[in-house]
Amino acid sequence: MSKPEFRWVGKPIPRKDAYAKASGSIAYPSDISMPGMLFSGVLRSPLPHARIKRIDASTARALPRVAAVLTHEDVPGKNRYGAFIRDRPVLCDDKVRCVGDPVALVVATTAEEVENALRLIQVEYEKLPAVTDPVEALKPGSPKVHEGGNVCRETRISFGDVEEAFRRAAVIVENTYRTGSQVHAYLEPEAGLGYYDDAKRLTLIVGGQSPYKDKAEICETLGLKEDEVVVITPPVGGAFGGKDDVPVQLHLALAVLKTGKPVKLVWGRGESCIAGLKRHPATVKMKTAAAADGTLLANRVEILFDKGAYAGLGPAVLDVAIENCNGPYRMPNVDIQATLAYTNNGVMSAFRGFGSPQVMFAMESQMNILAEKLGLDRIEFRLRNALRKGDEGAFRNRINSGVGIQEALERARNHELWRGRVSPGPGLGQWTKRGVGVAAAIKGFTLGALPDKGAAKIRLLDSGRFEVNVSTTEIGQGMTIAFAQIAAEALRCDLDDVTVACGDTLNAPDTSVTSASRSTYLGGNAIIKAAKEMQTLLARSAAELLGEPERTLQAGPSGIVSTRTDRSVTYSAIAERAKSRNLSIETIGTFDVPRVEPIAGSLEIPHLFYMFACALAEVEVDILTGVVKVTRLVVLPDGGRVINPQTFEGQVEGAAIQGLGYAIIEEAKIEDGFLKTPNFATYLIPTIKDAPEIEVIPVGEAEETGPFGAKGVGEIGLVPIAPAITNAIYDATGVRLFEIPATPERVYQALKKGGAAINLARARGRT
Ligand code: MOS
Repeated sequence: MSKPEFRWVGKPIPRKDAYAKASGSIAYPSDISMPGMLFSGVLRSPLPHARIKRIDASTARALPRVAAVLTHEDVPGKNRYGAFIRDRPVLCDDKVRCVGDPVALVVATTAEEVENALRLIQVEYEKLPAVTDPVEALKPGSPKVHEGGNVCRETRISFGDVEEAFRRAAVIVENTYRTGSQVHAYLEPEAGLGYYDDAKRLTLIVGGQSPYKDKAEICETLGLKEDEVVVITPPVGGAFGGKDDVPVQLHLALAVLKTGKPVKLVWGRGESCIAGLKRHPATVKMKTAAAADGTLLANRVEILFDKGAYAGLGPAVLDVAIENCNGPYRMPNVDIQATLAYTNNGVMSAFRGFGSPQVMFAMESQMNILAEKLGLDRIEFRLRNALRKGDEGAFRNRINSGVGIQEALERARNHELWRGRVSPGPGLGQWTKRGVGVAAAIKGFTLGALPDKGAAKIRLLDSGRFEVNVSTTEIGQGMTIAFAQIAAEALRCDLDDVTVACGDTLNAPDTSVTSASRSTYLGGNAIIKAAKEMQTLLARSAAELLGEPERTLQAGPSGIVSTRTDRSVTYSAIAERAKSRNLSIETIGTFDVPRVEPIAGSLEIPHLFYMFACALAEVEVDILTGVVKVTRLVVLPDGGRVINPQTFEGQVEGAAIQGLGYAIIEEAKIEDGFLKTPNFATYLIPTIKDAPEIEVIPVGEAEETGPFGAKGVGEIGLVPIAPAITNAIYDATGVRLFEIPATPERVYQALKKGGAAINLARARGRT
């Protein structure tokens, strides 16, 4: 990567919230309270599927400290919401469609009284047969989750001629892969506080990802006007896609509307696991063909996602799965059939990677199987097919963003972990096998063919410092320090001269959603535009103050400097002058992602911009117990130019550990519609003891269209991890896992079934 001289961009500057976060003193939405505040809680369905015959809240309402018990009758309008399909009730009316579906909302003066009231509400249900298997859900005659049936979305996208390609292929492999659900497991469960502000606006301080989108959904669903609602999102204790929806927002808004008082709502951990969003479990069937020289020819793919009871962002998640199911490779012929099936299994929606991890597990397993059949080195085979800038993608789309996958694979090939591997690894005692696996990954960032716009505001404060305002939210990713660096670089001022405020609809322009790894790219580009305009305004003021022409003036750390004389004027002097004239010096920059037409049958395919990654995993497999230990991870992400190496690494390391959990530990077990793992005693996530040494090696070029060359990095670090680990398990044992998480039980069963393979692998000196 070429490295122009930057003063702030590319520097590992510690984030300003680091100490507050490490010490626990930072105030997340759940930590924020108000005098006179009421508490609230949600009565949730204990059944996966049932008709609501009667709700009797009279006893609960009569409790002395209860302010309100709200049901569907209190919800104005149609009582349905949803980003793509308005299928989800604010409070259930005719039916409940999953365990955890909200039925009533209690507001009381104490948290204890909320619990008392929740116990006293009587709901008479008529049990309905539940459908909890997406395959069953699609069969005629199965119970219907919604009146329109169980197909939430279905599409088929084909380019080229797969059958013709299969006929001339040297090798074809066909397999079915299964991936499990995953709980976001944030430090802070879903939470918020609502109240009327001094201007009588319904105001929410809430843990979310998209204040403007939240606001729009609240207005639409509850029939409020745009200027009647304010959404503020302080630093959030984790989101990962799980807070890219509005159940808490709608309940808080409703509670404030009905009581007129400040109301707080904090979900419990069990509630977060049960009623919170999860990753879509998937079945991915793939038939992949290659020529004898290792050229990929065709991919026929069937994707089936368990949607759970409501659409959420699922329709878009499905598109991302379709778009990325061929991996970061040229694939001239594709036939992709994809379905979202409603079931009574909770609600699945966005989760870091957004559909890409499911299909990458399948594709990157296929790549290893193909390589072995072709007798090609696993990395060499990938390199022969890896996308290059300017290539045509599977959807006949031109890949114009930087494409770092070649570099990632080359550097993986030269990494000592890869070069030093011995397959199968040297024995670590008779029953432990070591192996190394490789996997590549791709995921688009920004919203693809959906409209995608961002804006940022910069204001010169009285102090002479600059306040940057964006509406994207700090969900732990380190967005604020990256924005401060981008702004300081663009304004040519000191980093300490910049403060970043974010996440509210009152002061910030609409930067749109904090998702799809898009914040740095959209927000950063908008900040640079605002900074350019700010410099024009500053130069104009300075020219008047100094009596010199604007063109001889230049922005610098302390103020505007003349290039002709040694005179200068400080930013605070410019601010003071503006204030004395009752002016404010403020600019707004906007950045729109160029529009692309969605391909037929899709919502957001193709993206213009993609992130890439390659990962190496080293594992030790105990072949007696099936326990897999990941001992090393090397992740080589292409997120464009790195704005802040510390936060970049933090994102990739966090994603890698979340990917490790997805690969071998985390399993949201849903049986007959009941979540069997509703807490952290049963839903296990990786701890520090499971976290291996992780090496992060950024690759790729500066993205021409990005802010100082940046793309995005929030999600890509997760995507190659699961296949890298299962490929490493195969390397160690000769046994392939077609289902994740590769829990000890699954690995043990696979080893038992492939008993012969263990010996085979030991004897074999594979490439
Ligand atoms: Mo995300 S999974 O695009 O918040």
